[in-house]
Amino acid sequence: MSSLETKFLNITFPNPFILAAGPPTAKAALVIEAFKAGWGGAVLKTISLEPTPLPKPRLHVIKSGKDKRGMLDIELFSNLPINRWEDEIDMIRASYPDHPLIASVAGGGQPYDWQEVIRCLEPHGVNAFEMNVSCPSFAGEKGEKLGQNPEALKKAVSWVREATKLPVIVKLTPNVTNINSFARIAMEAGADAFTISNSLLGLGGIDLDTFSPLPNLDGLGICGGYGGPALKPVSLRCTASVAKALPLPILGCGGISNWRDAAEYLAAGASAVEICTAVMWDGINIISGLTKGLERYINEKGFSAAADITGKALPNIVTFPDLDLSIDLVAAIDKNLCNGCGICIKACASGAYQAITLVENKAWVELLECDGCGLCVGVCPLNAVQLVQRGHKELIPFI
Ligand SMILES: Cc1cc2nc3c(=O)[nH]c(=O)nc-3n(C[C@H](O)[C@H](O)[C@H](O)COP(=O)(O)O)c2cc1C
Repeated sequence: MSSLETKFLNITFPNPFILAAGPPTAKAALVIEAFKAGWGGAVLKTISLEPTPLPKPRLHVIKSGKDKRGMLDIELFSNLPINRWEDEIDMIRASYPDHPLIASVAGGGQPYDWQEVIRCLEPHGVNAFEMNVSCPSFAGEKGEKLGQNPEALKKAVSWVREATKLPVIVKLTPNVTNINSFARIAMEAGADAFTISNSLLGLGGIDLDTFSPLPNLDGLGICGGYGGPALKPVSLRCTASVAKALPLPILGCGGISNWRDAAEYLAAGASAVEICTAVMWDGINIISGLTKGLERYINEKGFSAAADITGKALPNIVTFPDLDLSIDLVAAIDKNLCNGCGICIKACASGAYQAITLVENKAWVELLECDGCGLCVGVCPLNAVQLVQRGHKELIPFI
């Protein structure tokens, strides 16, 4: 058995990397290509009784200089009718009869909306249903409006539970004050697992010539789903929070770009992960770097499976009163690595304790001023700064 093989809800995934519901799973041909490339599974683009039209444009990539930080989308559910999805699933199953395939489904405030979608799709051979109660762009009773309303969420999960014996995964929204309480409602209504999370509600930006929101549809725009790297700390926090509170398994999702991000989600309590934006930006072939990197990490750490990572960080995620505030650290500069660029000096001068100056073209720390905040460690492009115990002998090579 490969160390990446992952059991989730009694479904065996060849690896824990799953395509999240979105453009990369919007038709059979894409999913087939992805399985060929090595993806462990796929969640189909959300299917509902009525297809939803696609706004054009619907994506706005948020950049800082040339670097992509995140992406704002105003896409709703699939624009394909449900009978077309029945054919698409048949096509996937003709090529991949057993590969893990999850149907993302959505409805509104009536049992029929949900149950009819399940009734149509289940005979075509999906392994589980993922309930989308978390799409941020909907104005009515669907999407995250449903996932933010305790009563509506409870009813929707119980209707889906009633309609199928297949596993029911609820994809939660991070746009709530207390995600644990919504996870608990879903669990008590019959959910088997969670996907954590869908995207954050955001406003992509404003065109300063026309004052149109971005993406701009003839001068108008709406708030939408913010995903990609900037989402990771939020969804990771939500994952850890639910993993600590409830016993159900979790698919981590949000801002995963590489195997390290994925391993962090596992350590925060996920059993496998879903990825959308990174695939849209860099293509399905990122899967080879993801699997190779995670496999190497598992071997190096002496684990035997990805499952061994799950929850490893949870005991260490505590609250403020649990922290040891007597720890006293200071910055230490490795003079062999420092090139005197001054980035840490600028940061410390305005954002910290004015403890770093330039001496003989190298950064130099005034230890009495340094408060050990760690800003210089984070901004140094050369990894030339570290924090050490105040007065510790490790300081000696550095000063
Ligand atoms: C253009 C676009 C369309 C999406 N459509 C869906 C969808 O139909 N159903 C769903 O549950 N999530 C949808 N998502 C959300 C993703 O599945 C994912 O939860 C979110 O983007 C965060 O993950 P990421 O940072 O890896 O993109 C969509 C995301 C994007 C960017």
